[in-house]
Formats: sequence, structure tokens, C-alpha cells
Amino acid sequence: MSSFRHKHILGIEDLSREDIELILDTAASFKEINTRDIKKVPTLRGKTIINLFYEASTRTRTSFEIAGKRLSADTINISASASSVVKGETLEDTARNIEAMHPDIIVMRHGASGSPHYLAERLDCAIVNAGDGAHEHPSQALLDMMTIREHKGEIDGLTVAIVGDIAHSRVARSNLYGLTKMGAKVRLAAPGTMMPPGIERLGAEVYHDMNEAIRGADVVMMLRIQLERQGNTMLPTLREYARYYGLNPENLQLAKKDALVMHPGPINRGVELSSVVADGPQNVILDQVENGVAVRMALLYLVSGGEKAEE
Ligand code: CP
Repeated sequence: MSSFRHKHILGIEDLSREDIELILDTAASFKEINTRDIKKVPTLRGKTIINLFYEASTRTRTSFEIAGKRLSADTINISASASSVVKGETLEDTARNIEAMHPDIIVMRHGASGSPHYLAERLDCAIVNAGDGAHEHPSQALLDMMTIREHKGEIDGLTVAIVGDIAHSRVARSNLYGLTKMGAKVRLAAPGTMMPPGIERLGAEVYHDMNEAIRGADVVMMLRIQLERQGNTMLPTLREYARYYGLNPENLQLAKKDALVMHPGPINRGVELSSVVADGPQNVILDQVENGVAVRMALLYLVSGGEKAEE
């Protein structure tokens, strides 16, 4: 039996360093299953997992589905755009109707910050946050930490620069909570309009000059401009943004020689990341995606009680 005590995974803010280490160790132990000829173990046989997505997703939805299936759970996907949400059904009614079918876990993505917490207070099944508004994206930060740990050995003592639209980024917030708990120094870089006031109170060092933020960094994590959340009121032009806040072969040289280049996806090529860097030798972007399956297997397993069946 594991020592994981959380019924839900709502955010990294709620997790201790020991919780994060347990999740990363569990994910590392599951990772090998994904390269077997027969990629399936009976660990979650008989469990039902519903992926309830109110926002678009490629990586997160697919990898939660694959993770559930590789652990032998029955996994069902619901996209809001193809559900009765378009007829006006509320989040709570939708969730209560889904719960009447007795799922064990609801994995949920929603544009409103706090919506997974709202459901966790009202439903009996476990809720896993797959991204809520600009608040948290816990499974993304965990797969990022797994990738950093694999490449660098440990997270403690590293300097991680996170550059981009911090204000609208649930990835930045979850990584800030997680990386500081794991002992890393986190630098955040963004134009003033994309930096939330007071974020330094969460332990970040705040920069407006990207070059200063990435100088000597062990990891450079680039973020997408979230035009769907900010409109186009926060930057003059994408070209100007790319000039001051884009990562290219020239400014990447300011980071450590062996610095990792990370991005949660989807990438705006030529805006926050040049294609040369996105596809270059320091990028670990597809390692992040690969680790996403293992991390999500670990989360589904741990919120299910953490007892391993025969494999
Ligand atoms: N990183 C991430 O959340 O990607 P998707 O939006 O494709 O799930």
C-alpha cells in the first residue's frame, strides 16, 4: 500500500515534496510498460475513468486515455462540444449525471479556475485536474519535473527559467509550486503585462529581461502566448514579442551549455521558440510528452488507492 493520502489531484500547491517524489518514482516504475510489445497491465482492471474535457487538448487528453487503458481501466472521453453542455447543461448537472454511472475517477479540464475543486466538494469520486483556467496544470508540472530529473539526476539546486505568458499560464504556476518544493530556483520572465503582480511571494525571481533570466540557467522552459485567454491586448505584435521573448540559437547560448529546452506544447513556432531550437539537440519536448503517459498512469494508480495487482 502506498503512503499517498490524497483522494484528488487538484494542484501541486496541495502536494508535499514527499508526495511529488512518490509520484515521480511511481511514474518511473510504470514507464517501462509503455515500451513493451504488450502495453497493458491489470492494475486498474474494473475501474472506470471519465475524461471530461471542456477545453481543447491533444497531449493531456490522449495521454490520460492511454494511461488508463494501459492500466486496464475502462476509459471514456467526453468533449463538452459534443455533449449536452451545448444544450445548456451546467457543470454540476453534467458531473452529477456522470457520477450516477459510478465512475471511479473524473479527469477534468475546464476554462474556469477552481472548477475541479468545485466538483471535488460535491461528488464522491476522485477528481484529477487536467488544467483549470489560468490556475494549475498539475500533471504537466509533474511530467516536466520527471523529465528534468531524468536528464539532470536531481532537481534540487537547479536554476529553471520559465519565459512567456506567465499571467495566463497554469503550467507556470504548477511548475513554480513544484520546482520550488523540490529545491530548484525558479526565474520567471515576461513583459510587464504578462507577469502577475506579487508572484514573487510564491518564491519566484521576477525578470523582464529574458536574457538575464536565462543566463546560466540549467533549464529554459518556454510558454505559449495564450491568445485565447488574453485576446491581443497585451502585446503590440507577435514579431515584436518574438524579438524580446523568443528563444533562438543566439540567446540560448546565455544558458548553460547543457541546458534543457522545454515546452509544454502546443508550440507557436517562430514566436516563443524558433524551429531551430525547438528541433535542436537541447530540446526534450517529446521526452516530456512520453513522460506524460507514465506520470498520468502514476496519478490514476495513486488516487485509486495504490495497490498493485499482479503484472
Ligand atoms: N500541454 C498541454 O496541456 O497540451 P494539450 O493542451 O494538448 O493537452
